[in-house]
Amino acid sequence: MDRVKGKVVIVTGAASGVGREDALMLAREGARVVLTDINEEGGRAAAEQIGESAIFVRHDISSEDDWKAVMKAVGDRFGRLDALVNNAAILMMGSIEDTSLEDWRKMHRVNADGYFLGCKYAVAMMKNSGGGSIVNMSSVAALTGIPVVCAYSGAKGSVTALTRSVAVHCRLNGYRIRCNSIHPDGILTPMTLGFLGNDIERLRLENDPASRFCDPKDVANLVLFLVSDESRFINGAELRIDNAQMVVGI
Ligand SMILES: NC(=O)c1ccc[n+]([C@@H]2O[C@H](COP(=O)([O-])OP(=O)(O)OC[C@H]3O[C@@H](n4cnc5c(N)ncnc54)[C@H](O)[C@@H]3O)[C@@H](O)[C@H]2O)c1
Repeated sequence: MDRVKGKVVIVTGAASGVGREDALMLAREGARVVLTDINEEGGRAAAEQIGESAIFVRHDISSEDDWKAVMKAVGDRFGRLDALVNNAAILMMGSIEDTSLEDWRKMHRVNADGYFLGCKYAVAMMKNSGGGSIVNMSSVAALTGIPVVCAYSGAKGSVTALTRSVAVHCRLNGYRIRCNSIHPDGILTPMTLGFLGNDIERLRLENDPASRFCDPKDVANLVLFLVSDESRFINGAELRIDNAQMVVGI
């Protein structure tokens, strides 16, 4: 209990999947949570489930104006920011041969530009309130070669390199802001359930010790740790959640 008591945390993509679980878990551990998403209905429902310590802001992470509005809302309501969980993303399937330039740019507008803007505005706010933690949701796709998600891999690679740059910049400037990336393999969320079909029980770790699919709470547990001060010496790290899949080979 109270592992992140009083911290003000923005979670993007909080209407669904991992982001929703992050927000609920952080709130249970005492955080004041700013849930953001383009899905207003789902985002508001999650914020209402948490109650008074949460607000929802409609937010397209690819829009700089939207980031400015989110930061203003955080400043007005809480007066500080302690952590940003850059989590919202889209998935598009396609190899190098069947990904168009338009698809590549669309993917990078959300999954790369959105994370750059998040880091930029979070650093600006957190450096004035004593520091904080930025958690960037990447993927094993950034660490190995997955041919069927060419543009997604490129964007997640961008997020991973961005994370290192931000971590070192903040360290050199004495900001006390940490920045780490998380690299899951499969997660059982709406992003994957669409193509996994109905029989997902067989994929769960409880039923398959070699499973490649974790639950959102397995990722949220790591997010909680990275937001908390328990991880104060973990900075610029790439943390895999993949049941050793990268060791075995994708
Ligand atoms: N599901 C997986 O297997 C898997 C594996 C590795 C990494 N990830 C990463 O985990 C994170 C969470 O994914 P998820 O599985 O929970 O997905 P999800 O599709 O369940 O949730 C993503 C959320 O992001 C929101 N979103 C999409 N575009 C947005 C935009 N432009 N602005 C704001 N919000 C937007 C959606 O409305 C949705 O609520 C993503 O960064 C994803 O790339 C997922």
